[in-house]
Amino acid sequence: MAKVISFINQKGGSTKTTNAITLSHGLHKRGNRVLLIDTDQQSTASKAYARALESGFTVADLPSVISVPRETIADEIKSYRNSFDYIVIDSPGSLADLKIPAGVIKASDLAIVPVQPSPYDIEDSAAVVEMIHSRREIADGQPKAGILISRTKDKTILGREIQAALEQFELPIMESRIPDSEVFKQTAISGGSVFDANPKKHPKPVDAANAFVDEVLNILS
Ligand SMILES: Nc1ncnc2c1ncn2[C@@H]1O[C@H](COP(=O)(O)OP(=O)(O)OP(=O)(O)O)[C@@H](O)[C@H]1O
Ligand SMILES: [Mg+2]
Repeated sequence: MAKVISFINQKGGSTKTTNAITLSHGLHKRGNRVLLIDTDQQSTASKAYARALESGFTVADLPSVISVPRETIADEIKSYRNSFDYIVIDSPGSLADLKIPAGVIKASDLAIVPVQPSPYDIEDSAAVVEMIHSRREIADGQPKAGILISRTKDKTILGREIQAALEQFELPIMESRIPDSEVFKQTAISGGSVFDANPKKHPKPVDAANAFVDEVLNILS
């Protein structure tokens, strides 16, 4: 039975798609059967898959990708659970239609909320955190959830203001931090992921991405 990990935040540009690609590629490269489900009508993840094939990646190099921009995601996902080890869901950057994020949260074993370490971005993530809490209240504490701090500019400890804002969410803060690095953008252009970058040239983002995959596996084990 596949474990389902989603990236969810109504704040546009909060790095949902990039981190969904990082996690799905990382799990695939470790020999797992991985399905990436794109629930965003912008289809960023699906388009990346098409670019990857155009750039010379083969189907075997990549996690499978399907597009399900529908609120019925929680039901539809059931038919895929037996064919994969992990299902990663990317979700839309808007809660204009609340039904898709609600379906995504319902489908998840682990819901990850990526946030950039700025007070405004954190404030703008409150609605999705509230949705996760509401689901946990009626679903026996499920899904597991974590805040992922993404695009960090240095390795210093988070400022007190940011730390306090995050603590108000009353969700676990993941230990992994995803650094701000052009490598995420550059590798996405050809449909790849940070794991296609040379780790000797770019040790920081590659190491951080590996630590992130490790932490997700640890949370789900
Ligand atoms: N760790 C990173 N370092 C530098 N740039 C990044 C990083 N992660 C993502 N980006 C860039 O930030 C922008 C937004 O990222 P992304 O598209 O993943 O966000 P999103 O939450 O999926 O956005 P949307 O809400 O529009 O779907 C993109 O240009 C992406 O390349
Ligand atoms: Mg996106």
